[in-house]
Amino acid sequence: MYKAVIFYFSGTGNTWWVADKIKKQLDSKNINADIVSIDSVDRKKANWWIKTADLVFFGWPVYGSDLPEPMKQFIDGLMVINKGKHIHTFCTQMMFSGDGAWLYHKNFEDKGLIIDSAVHFIMPSNVSVLRLLGPPKSDEKIAKIMEKCGKHVEKHVEGLLMGKVRIQGKHSGLLGILQRVPYRLFFKRFRNLVGVDKSLCTRCGLCEKLCPSANIKMNEYPEFAGQCALCMRCYAFCPEYAITYKGRPRNVEKKGKPYILHDKRFKPAMLK
Ligand SMILES: Cc1cc2nc3c(=O)[nH]c(=O)nc-3n(C[C@H](O)[C@H](O)[C@H](O)COP(=O)(O)O)c2cc1C
Repeated sequence: MYKAVIFYFSGTGNTWWVADKIKKQLDSKNINADIVSIDSVDRKKANWWIKTADLVFFGWPVYGSDLPEPMKQFIDGLMVINKGKHIHTFCTQMMFSGDGAWLYHKNFEDKGLIIDSAVHFIMPSNVSVLRLLGPPKSDEKIAKIMEKCGKHVEKHVEGLLMGKVRIQGKHSGLLGILQRVPYRLFFKRFRNLVGVDKSLCTRCGLCEKLCPSANIKMNEYPEFAGQCALCMRCYAFCPEYAITYKGRPRNVEKKGKPYILHDKRFKPAMLK
């Protein structure tokens, strides 16, 4: 029986949802697929998976046409596969990323991993902190985007299994740079803007548990170490909406709730 492994990072659930779709499709074709969160995987085990699987996928959400820091660290921390291995990358994004799924090809190559296919899937926006680009308001809109994405995933995997590989973003580097340069320029500032509204915080500690980058330490209240990955997990999953951005208390009434994937099977606390 053929084997596949799908490594993914997901802040608010979109990338997990796509990874899960890929897994189900592969399973239906008798390819035994493991879906693995990079939050918890041991490096040795990851390398074993890569070596032994027939199909290897890596998926992440696009942040300013860039990769999330935890995903970069995961890839950079992999051991080198001497014989080389062909892999497939996918990104989820709200709209556009230029070369998001192709961008890290050199770092992959340093590990002996060659990107055979790269694809961008459009999913709902999770940039809840910006009103302008906030998540689609209605459930119908979200459902429509996800239905379309599901079809895209199906078509992509079907194509892969028939040997039709495509590298999306390979020639859109310039467009990616246009987004990436300002994003990287402001990244240090962005990652220091997360905070807590103490009047709402019940000190449950969930934010610390969810954080993929050890940015949150629970003392009397959550404290932040300036290494936020901007994944939106603490912001989206705080049951009291106590996590703030730019020091502003979250006004759910006025701005709407943060984006959380509707699929209740996504439980970020289980990722670690
Ligand atoms: C900090 C940040 C930056 C983002 N930048 C982009 C972007 O450049 N282009 C885009 O289309 N979507 C962008 N998005 C939207 C997410 O990529 C998208 O909603 C993704 O599906 C979220 O995946 P997740 O739920 O697995 O975390 C950004 C989101 C965040 C939080």
